[in-house]
Amino acid sequence: MKHHENRRSFVKKALALTGAFSATNLFTQLHAEEWSSMQTKHQHTSPEELAENEDYWSHIQRAYTASSSPVMNLNNGGVSPSPLVVQQAVERYNLLSNQAPSYYMWRILDQGREPLRDKLALLAGCDPEEIAVNRNATEALNTVIFGLDLQRGDEVIGCYQDYPNMMQAWSQRADREGIVYKQLSFDFPIEDEDLIVEKFRQAITSKTKVIHVTHVINWVGQIMPVRKICRMAHERGIEVIVDGAHSFGLLDFQIPDLEADYFGTSLHKYLSAPIGSGMLWIKKDKISKVWPLLCNGDPKSGDIRKFETLGTRSFPIEQGIGEALNFHQAIGTKRKEARIRYLKNYWAEKALQIHGVKLHTSLKKEFSCAIAGVSIEGMSTSQLGNTLLNDFRIHTTSIVYHNIDCVRVSPHVYTSLADLDRFVYALGKIAEGVNLSGLSTHNP
Ligand SMILES: Cc1ncc(COP(=O)(O)O)c(C=O)c1O
Repeated sequence: MKHHENRRSFVKKALALTGAFSATNLFTQLHAEEWSSMQTKHQHTSPEELAENEDYWSHIQRAYTASSSPVMNLNNGGVSPSPLVVQQAVERYNLLSNQAPSYYMWRILDQGREPLRDKLALLAGCDPEEIAVNRNATEALNTVIFGLDLQRGDEVIGCYQDYPNMMQAWSQRADREGIVYKQLSFDFPIEDEDLIVEKFRQAITSKTKVIHVTHVINWVGQIMPVRKICRMAHERGIEVIVDGAHSFGLLDFQIPDLEADYFGTSLHKYLSAPIGSGMLWIKKDKISKVWPLLCNGDPKSGDIRKFETLGTRSFPIEQGIGEALNFHQAIGTKRKEARIRYLKNYWAEKALQIHGVKLHTSLKKEFSCAIAGVSIEGMSTSQLGNTLLNDFRIHTTSIVYHNIDCVRVSPHVYTSLADLDRFVYALGKIAEGVNLSGLSTHNP
């Protein structure tokens, strides 16, 4: 008993020392005063109104080192940077870990996983016992894809616009075990939710066991009607896996409200957690039937922790998630979603005024938030992406895949209107060049 108490008070002291999950966390030390006064000032402002308040967002921009990057990063959909406070937390834990690795990692930092689980569950609006912490969306979703018992001939429905790592995982199961992986194809943008649900419904047969759906399509940012798909699937006894890589920490929803069975996400996208962090959510009563992807002594257990036997990993990165959650909660999801959608609309509406510019994403609120695709008539996607980078130092991602051909643009909370004005200016200049060269070809 005495030994336990001593140990507990030692751990408590050690935690306060590292600041990993104590009241003296870095965020509180650095930002609390400034942010609490902003909070008071804007407590009655709606998220949509606040989305256009440059004074408020300038505080957030300053909290990110990425806001002063020499290359403008408009590919936050790929990986998002962390605010400085999160980077500093990771550095602090890393220094500590390198003093006596197994001691600080296993005995000190590892103790932070349970409070972290609670914090993630708070944001996800679910039971902490449904959350496993891991390294990315690929790991989270591959755990479910490979962990479900399926028989030869059982059918899984996904689409060509899902993420390659998940499509490959399903194809691997098809190759090895003879499950049938059916892929639909959508021509985005689509502004009719029922059309999407109906397409999934029509693909269902008596052999269908699983539907795999990407919450926000990474290629062009289309938001999929996940709850409607889940309801339709559940009426037919079919389970749904949701790839939430681009939705968690951005869209204002609680995971159980999606009514899915499984949800996997990266945390290093819109949550701005350290790079190499992810999360898996499994509905409580389904945990026991999913096999862990890696080993576990009790693989059919109903304890979500069975998915965390990852071996030695970066505890600094994992504990840094806590700081990212502090930062995120200080803004609030509703405000973040509204601001990022405002930023996307800001550049996209201006870009649409430019002759030859085409958008590949709906600007309606329910169908997109951060991501939009853009192209310029008469110019290839790779040319456009390269010119943006080489001539204007703007980093985007060029997508030529299946039925998608555009440059993907994804701002974040640290992106300023001045950045987006510069981006639109660049698009205008590039389009002008294409139009002029088009004219000169026709009129030599
Ligand atoms: C829709 C989607 N799912 C999954 C992933 C994989 O994420 P990670 O590389 O973090 O595993 C991505 C990455 O961009 C994605 O866009």
